[in-house]
Amino acid sequence: MFAILEDLQPQDRHALLTPLITPRPIAFVSTRGADGIGNLAPFSFFAMGGQSPQSVAFCPVADRNGNPKDTLRNVRATGEFVINIVTRAMAERVNQASAPYPHGVDEFDVVGFTRVPSVMVQPPRVAESPASLECRVFQVIPHGSGPLHGTWVIGEVLAAHIDDGILAADGLPDTAKLDPAARLGRTEWSHVTTDSIFSLVRPTVGRPSGQTPG
Ligand SMILES: Cc1cc2nc3c(=O)[nH]c(=O)nc-3n(C[C@H](O)[C@H](O)[C@H](O)COP(=O)(O)O)c2cc1C
Repeated sequence: MFAILEDLQPQDRHALLTPLITPRPIAFVSTRGADGIGNLAPFSFFAMGGQSPQSVAFCPVADRNGNPKDTLRNVRATGEFVINIVTRAMAERVNQASAPYPHGVDEFDVVGFTRVPSVMVQPPRVAESPASLECRVFQVIPHGSGPLHGTWVIGEVLAAHIDDGILAADGLPDTAKLDPAARLGRTEWSHVTTDSIFSLVRPTVGRPSGQTPG
């Protein structure tokens, strides 16, 4: 098939591309409003970039009336957020946290996650997540306007909390121990297991990695 995106309805674009751009890691984003009310919501339009400084980006999409999500309102108001990594064990409750609760309802309470105070920012982290990143907003960039447009929130990672239990012998996080969940298309999710991981050494010029000289 061949598709020109302009010819498709927004929901059809989303349905077409989400099974392709996978697996998407999930940022479970904790924020606080100017009124101090907390909020917790998952975002799979989520990536990292750079190293100095270290940035992360996620993209809240406006609703069908063009209204921003609580998470976007909060990061605009306070400039702070915490990204909690979603594990397989957390997936069902994270999914529940994405229900359209009204403003003023803190998903920590309705879904039953535990707050832990952060060190460098106001929003708390999620105790049930083995890895959390405290972040400060760098830039907020809308792409388009009106119903279903996205707004990229780019943040700088200030601090990382990582459970010792998911560290490997080399002191770095072991992804299989973390068991992170990811979004695919439709209602499908995935997670990383030992069986799904393979390793490739960074190549030198001229020879595909893993290939021995002939
Ligand atoms: C796994 C998962 C990933 C999601 N990813 C996004 C996303 O990247 N962007 C978005 O706008 N909504 C996404 N959603 C939907 C939001 O989480 C949902 O609209 C939520 O209610 C927003 O909460 P808020 O209004 O409290 O910020 C996702 C939902 C789930 C379950």
